[in-house]
Amino acid sequence: MSRPSIFITGAAAGIGRATAERFAREGWFVGLFDVDLAGVQALAAQLPAGQSCATRLDVTDPAAWDAALKAFFETSGNRLDILFNNAGILASGDLEQISLAMQHKIVDVNIKGVMNGCHAALPYLKQTPSARVINMASASAMYGQPGLATYSATKFAVRALTEALDIEWEKHGIRVSDIWPLFVQTAMIKDVGDSPSLKSMGVNLTPQNVADTVWKVAHHRGLFRRVHWPVGLQTWFIYRTTGLIPDWLARWINKRIATN
Ligand SMILES: NC(=O)c1ccc[n+]([C@@H]2O[C@H](COP(=O)([O-])OP(=O)(O)OC[C@H]3O[C@@H](n4cnc5c(N)ncnc54)[C@H](O)[C@@H]3O)[C@@H](O)[C@H]2O)c1
Repeated sequence: MSRPSIFITGAAAGIGRATAERFAREGWFVGLFDVDLAGVQALAAQLPAGQSCATRLDVTDPAAWDAALKAFFETSGNRLDILFNNAGILASGDLEQISLAMQHKIVDVNIKGVMNGCHAALPYLKQTPSARVINMASASAMYGQPGLATYSATKFAVRALTEALDIEWEKHGIRVSDIWPLFVQTAMIKDVGDSPSLKSMGVNLTPQNVADTVWKVAHHRGLFRRVHWPVGLQTWFIYRTTGLIPDWLARWINKRIATN
């Protein structure tokens, strides 16, 4: 029997890297994909020999997805247990302060990247019993975040794709979930700068905390499907209360957090 396998985008750094390390430690075959080829190659060199592959993949390029998945499937012993759509980018500031080209790029990577991956991976997921897709959303998929409007919108789109595909693909035995962290200590939060929301909420999660949640999602087999996975108590609390409070109160709280 071959090892279970996970295909990780954005694996050169931050959450993708921590997830790769976690799954490799547990004996999985790990596919490392990123625009940063040197980064994924350096990571592969640190993982046990024969337990990973590292390739350049720009998630916005559908043809590159096809080639990467084909090669990965052959190398991993004809299985794709988990597709982890993790690659993402962010720019912080009011809408008019961020160039339209950058906003489009955020949409291309964060939404089209996930869409491309799901579309290209389906034939391989169908061939792997109990396969899963885990998409990287964010706590900003709960309420639109001022200062992160387009980023937040892309994470709402990831949420919608996740919810819809988890129902569409039930007939294939494939589960689709997403992960919702608040701020995580990675290079990405440098792009958030000293925004009020970062100051209000703090950075209380490490990439390893998120990798642990990915591991939990990968092994969750409960009868009741859990689609959304907030990471950490703080995010859980916000997730639970956002669904219960009236709209005006949610708006007031989010305004206080993001504009103080
Ligand atoms: N850091 C946070 O606070 C936080 C919070 C919630 C959600 N997230 C999400 O987690 C994911 C990972 O973020 P991170 O914090 O580890 O960021 P990071 O910047 O540390 O790592 C992102 C990785 O994605 C790669 N990447 C960027 N564009 C790519 C592309 N077009 N194709 C392939 N790879 C590409 C980068 O090279 C990098 O290695 C993102 O989707 C992000 O939105 C992060």
